[in-house]
Amino acid sequence: MKKDYSKYFVKPSIKDARKRKSTETAVIDFNEYFLMKGFGKGKTYKIETYGCQGNEADTEKIRGILEALDFTESDKLEDADLILLNTCAIRENAENRVFGELGRLKQYKKNNPDLILGISGCMPQEEKVVDRILNKFQYVDLVFGTHNIYKLPEYLETVVLSKERVIEVFSEEGNIIENMPKIRENTKKAWVNIMYGCDEFCTYCIVPYTRGKERSRKSEHILAEVQELINQGYKEVTLLGQNVNSYGNDFTESEYKFSNLLEDLNKMDIDRVRFTTSHPKDFDLDTVKVLAKQGNLMPYIHLPVQSGSNEVLKRMNRKYTKEQYIELVNNIYKYIPNASLTTDIIVGFPGETEEQFNETLDLVEKCKFEGAFTFVYSPREGTPAAKYEDDMTMEEKKQRLYKLNELVNDGYLRGNLRFDNKIVKVLVDGVSKNSDEILAGYTENNKLVNFKGNEDLIGKIVEVRITEVKTWSLKGEQVG
Ligand code: 5AD
Ligand code: SF4
Repeated sequence: MKKDYSKYFVKPSIKDARKRKSTETAVIDFNEYFLMKGFGKGKTYKIETYGCQGNEADTEKIRGILEALDFTESDKLEDADLILLNTCAIRENAENRVFGELGRLKQYKKNNPDLILGISGCMPQEEKVVDRILNKFQYVDLVFGTHNIYKLPEYLETVVLSKERVIEVFSEEGNIIENMPKIRENTKKAWVNIMYGCDEFCTYCIVPYTRGKERSRKSEHILAEVQELINQGYKEVTLLGQNVNSYGNDFTESEYKFSNLLEDLNKMDIDRVRFTTSHPKDFDLDTVKVLAKQGNLMPYIHLPVQSGSNEVLKRMNRKYTKEQYIELVNNIYKYIPNASLTTDIIVGFPGETEEQFNETLDLVEKCKFEGAFTFVYSPREGTPAAKYEDDMTMEEKKQRLYKLNELVNDGYLRGNLRFDNKIVKVLVDGVSKNSDEILAGYTENNKLVNFKGNEDLIGKIVEVRITEVKTWSLKGEQVG
């Protein structure tokens, strides 16, 4: 008899995902969805996470749910009873890696037919991905998206007890789920979601379709989470959102905004507060002024510019000009003279001329970035830019990327040279990849530092004098 998958067969739709609901965001308490403790007893899991910090934060929630069901984490992939790929859709190569991995995991499924193989995150939010899984990867048992992590216990029950394949992806969702359990990766540094989704619709970007409408968490929930982290001994929080600067714009009964949140966090007993990602169009002077108070607000800002050409920025729907961006950067340097700035840049956007690319190089020089993530444009089906005419060859795009990267690398070195022979504060992450005797951690300006020290310094903030400067890292000696 053919199995009936219909109960949990909900496919995504990129078209529906574009719709923004005018209804107020529902805040759902996770507890009511939490049903079957002990379900995972004796079973193990392994999660592979791809993509941004938002996905890493989601993985911590998935782990939280699994461990609340009594699953335990497996050391090795091959021993796991449940393997989940938490995926990223931002560029095509991110997706190709996941399809490659799914292909490789087929063997695991053959060796162990009881293995539950799942895929979650941004890729399942695209209908073409779900179609491909249905046609080519029929051995995948579980497919869910970014909006329904909280229903994982129910899905697992169906997969295990009814031996049915579960595919459920919500396209138009815009809720906030509070109180999901979390198992955090790090014991000193924590991600804190302050909002979800994105309403910007930059023409190249898939995120507004995969992550739903923009919605802010209530400040009291955020501040309570940070207080709980302080109580647990955390030293650093990174506030997460696709455009943190528009935090609170969706509140109907309050004027509370991002600068207010930073001000409140500035008074709390956490050593370091970071945030990502910023949108230049919404980064207001109030925020710059609050950051200027420093204290636990770190002098490091990631401020994606994408392009230095007004024409390209317009076609990207970024809603600011090169001149406005430079004015913002100058204000940041004026109020926070020790700030380190990094950015994101896309080269080879459809129709980008040599002259327009040179505008980007010019902007990079003027803004004194101390680092940048640079990307060749990757068309994403369903986004407006995917339909723009693009006659540039990949070779030309790569040439532009190399040229840009040379300039960007000068910036990394220039940023590190600022700290030569200076004393910096390092939050020690752990031992270095290359040697057990060398510790590694990050400064307030987010510079990687290696220095000789005892392992019991891990998790502490240590003063280090910089003795050697390289492009990608600093070397130093502990002071005192
Ligand atoms: N192609 C290339 N880069 C992209 N980004 C987002 N979408 C695309 C795309 N389609 C980049 C942007 C963004 C970063 C997270 O990824 O620079 O800031
Ligand atoms: Fe994508 Fe633009 Fe939203 Fe960033 S602000 S997630 S680039 S649409």
